Amino acid sequence: MKKAIIVGATSGIGRQLAIILAEDGYQVGITGRREELLIELKALKPESFIISAFDVTNIANVPVNLVELKEQLGGLDLLIMSSGTGKINPALDTDVERYTNEVNVAGFTAVADWGFNFFEQQASGHFAAITSIGGIRGSRQAPAYFASKAYQINYLEGLSQRAKKIKLPVYITDIRPGFVNTAMAAGENMFWMATAEKASKQIFDAIQNKKEVVYVTKRWRLVAFIFRLVPRFLYKRM
Ligand SMILES: NC(=O)c1ccc[n+]([C@@H]2O[C@H](COP(=O)([O-])OP(=O)(O)OC[C@H]3O[C@@H](n4cnc5c(N)ncnc54)[C@H](OP(=O)(O)O)[C@@H]3O)[C@@H](O)[C@H]2O)c1
Repeated sequence: MKKAIIVGATSGIGRQLAIILAEDGYQVGITGRREELLIELKALKPESFIISAFDVTNIANVPVNLVELKEQLGGLDLLIMSSGTGKINPALDTDVERYTNEVNVAGFTAVADWGFNFFEQQASGHFAAITSIGGIRGSRQAPAYFASKAYQINYLEGLSQRAKKIKLPVYITDIRPGFVNTAMAAGENMFWMATAEKASKQIFDAIQNKKEVVYVTKRWRLVAFIFRLVPRFLYKRM
């Protein structure tokens, strides 16, 4: 039986991916801080899920928790990092920005490093992370969120390079959603909003096909392309 861990499976994309993996026959380790939501998820298919509630900002404990969960599962083929946070921050409140970095930069790095090192030692495995289309340019509304997603995108590119160098079947997937209808997608001017179900199906396909970079839904590749082309002097005025 294939084994997976989803970090951030209590809600949104991570939760939906956990359901899809379970339906595909995976045994899935599900994490997040809200244990009651993990218990509800497990109740849907008790034999498919193993729960481990933890906070990714508790950096020292991230590897400990992941090792324990991997041992309970009896192995690991796929690790998905879906945990993330981000708020519109018009006041440039430093506490908001610091916490975003704790989750999206420090927590992300702790999960990514543990995953890559484990898969390298095992000589196989797949690490996938949900970044964002937001990582492509800066944002006046949520500077830390967009910058932290740029960090994740570049970090994953670095891991892809490492994977190539070690010449082992270790795969990295950078998943870049546009808008997905979850608790995180709060705000105005949203368009092309996908359901978590549709987004997660596309993410699952990309993981199965071992894609390096995927836009979700697919049409967001066009937005990414245009975003990159907008000259800085125009982008500043937006
Ligand atoms: N929704 C969108 O439009 C959109 C677009 C682009 C990218 N994304 C990215 O997609 C990923 C999933 O977000 P979502 O849309 O599914 O939103 P969501 O429903 O709010 O899910 C966020 C997940 O992150 C977990 N999390 C947050 N802080 C955590 C912490 N300190 N420790 C452990 N887990 C933590 C949450 O679990 P607990 O609260 O239980 O800990 C939850 O499971 C995020 O990385 C987000 O940046 C979303």
